[in-house]
Amino acid sequence: MAGRIPQSFIDDLLARVDIVDIIDRYVPLKKAGANHKACCPFHGEKTPSFNVSQTKQFYHCFGCGVSGSAISFLMEFDNMHFIDAVEYLADSVGLQVPKDAITKITPSQQGLFDALKNCAAFYQQELKKNTPAIEYLKNRKISGETALEYQIGYSPANWHALNGALQDPEAMLLTTGMLIRSDSGKTHDRFRDRVMFPIRDRRGRTIGFGGRVMDNTEPKYLNSPETPLFQKGRELYGLYELRKHKKSTSERIIVVEGYMDVIALAEAGIKNAVATLGTATSSEQVATLFRETDEIVFCFDGDSAGRKAAWRALNSALSSLKSGRDARFLFLPDGEDPDSVVNKQGSEHFLHLITNTAIEASAFMFQTLERQAHKGSDNTGTGHKARLAELVKPLISQIPSGIYRDLLSTQLEEKVGVPVNISTTPKAGSPAPRLKPSQTSAMKPSPVRRALSGILAEPAVVLEIDPEAYDFSIKIPGTGLLMQVVALVETNPQITTSGIIEHFRDKPEWNSLNKLAMATLDDSSETGIDSPLSIVKHAIQKLNDESRMIDLKGETNELSKPPSAMSDQEKDALRKKLEELKKP
Ligand code: UTP
Ligand code: MN
Repeated sequence: MAGRIPQSFIDDLLARVDIVDIIDRYVPLKKAGANHKACCPFHGEKTPSFNVSQTKQFYHCFGCGVSGSAISFLMEFDNMHFIDAVEYLADSVGLQVPKDAITKITPSQQGLFDALKNCAAFYQQELKKNTPAIEYLKNRKISGETALEYQIGYSPANWHALNGALQDPEAMLLTTGMLIRSDSGKTHDRFRDRVMFPIRDRRGRTIGFGGRVMDNTEPKYLNSPETPLFQKGRELYGLYELRKHKKSTSERIIVVEGYMDVIALAEAGIKNAVATLGTATSSEQVATLFRETDEIVFCFDGDSAGRKAAWRALNSALSSLKSGRDARFLFLPDGEDPDSVVNKQGSEHFLHLITNTAIEASAFMFQTLERQAHKGSDNTGTGHKARLAELVKPLISQIPSGIYRDLLSTQLEEKVGVPVNISTTPKAGSPAPRLKPSQTSAMKPSPVRRALSGILAEPAVVLEIDPEAYDFSIKIPGTGLLMQVVALVETNPQITTSGIIEHFRDKPEWNSLNKLAMATLDDSSETGIDSPLSIVKHAIQKLNDESRMIDLKGETNELSKPPSAMSDQEKDALRKKLEELKKP
């Protein structure tokens, strides 16, 4: 994935953004010595061991071992994908990501996108010919305009419509899930006689479909399976259309449950709704939305299934909550959904419900857990308060440290009447705590490692080393990488530590470079005593020495024929070489 954006663009980008600035938006940082510090947002701790270096443009936690560039931080902390992280950073410094970098996809992916695009166009054409489908949409008060905007279509009642109508290879139609291969080996259309809702990614490319029956048969909706292009937990129905209309992040986004809710709201002029795709709201979806807006309103059915879904959405939202962001929950009367509300009572009424009856995430959290704490308790003494504290603590601990989290802790303390100690739980998917590199190995690092860590500590040292100095054999493991890094700095004299590492994102060296760079942030490490320049110089000297040894050994091997086969001259030469090898 990383290869699609030119490396020169990444270099330029990382030279312009400031990692301190970027991370500070998520985790308030404090200047401490050469670095900025905070309590690590990736694991629980009370004393800050999360370090961000402005000069190296690199972060690292000595507690749990996470590290990387601004891009890595966005990917790990905010669940962004590589390209999204690059776009986000580019946006923040006014750079434009090269357009073909975004749209460039592998030929096979292109085939899948094309197949889905052609299916959508085909279904749209078929809708025009099918009176019952048109009638169905009319009955549901969908105008032609809205149908067009959301590319609503109709899949004919035919088992083999797609293969007959489209030129796309069958393999593409199978991979996208548009065709199904039965046990007999024959293929047929997945969607038949259904109103079709194309699901588009945020750039407008069709990645899947939902298809609704027009009567009461089951299943009501059929959806595309998960495919290389379509992962339900990542996508949001209507996000592309919403982004086209939305002007600023101050405009709220309404999260609803169904395709038809998004469509009906759009029809009623409320064009800022998206739907999850029949799955629980994921933290990735919430994070995506909070990049578009500061206010999310989750809208659910008031019944118990709706409350459960809302509770899961709340849990997914916690890691994205902070002051300045607002997540609220609207519960509709039992049996109603946004579609039915706007159709029966109008859009004004729906907006009125949002303004007046949607409750804050924190209120929803306390309300739900207080109810739970009271259950099975006699409601008298301190029993339920203690229980409440135990129930709330793990949730608050998922909120990133900051004012919002402090506020909720205070609210909890007020409710239970005693100070409550909130620890941070590790962010889901974050690496388990690791030891410092220096603790994992008692061995002195190899010269290659020392040279690399000196360069990672201060890339500019490369510019002070005479190219002639690199006089070592490439046979020593790691020297290939070392020379790559040296060349990189020589051609990009301004490059930072994280800039170097970004060049290796998809390469096997990525991990070791990250680890080496981490060690350079540790004020107490050896690199703090010697200057990076002298470390690199010494390491290179050592490599040159080792290299000579290897050459000698190579020659010795040449000479290690059975003594009987050697001439006296050869024996002499061998003796000399062995003497040399024994010298320190
Ligand atoms: P709903 O039953 O609330 O759907 O399911 P809806 O959009 O309001 O549809 P109408 O008004 O009855 O036409 C909510 C969502 O759950 C998924 C779909 O994504 C749907 O939009 N779902 C529901 C399915 O995937 N399959 C089903 O059989 C039902
Ligand atoms: Mn509905």
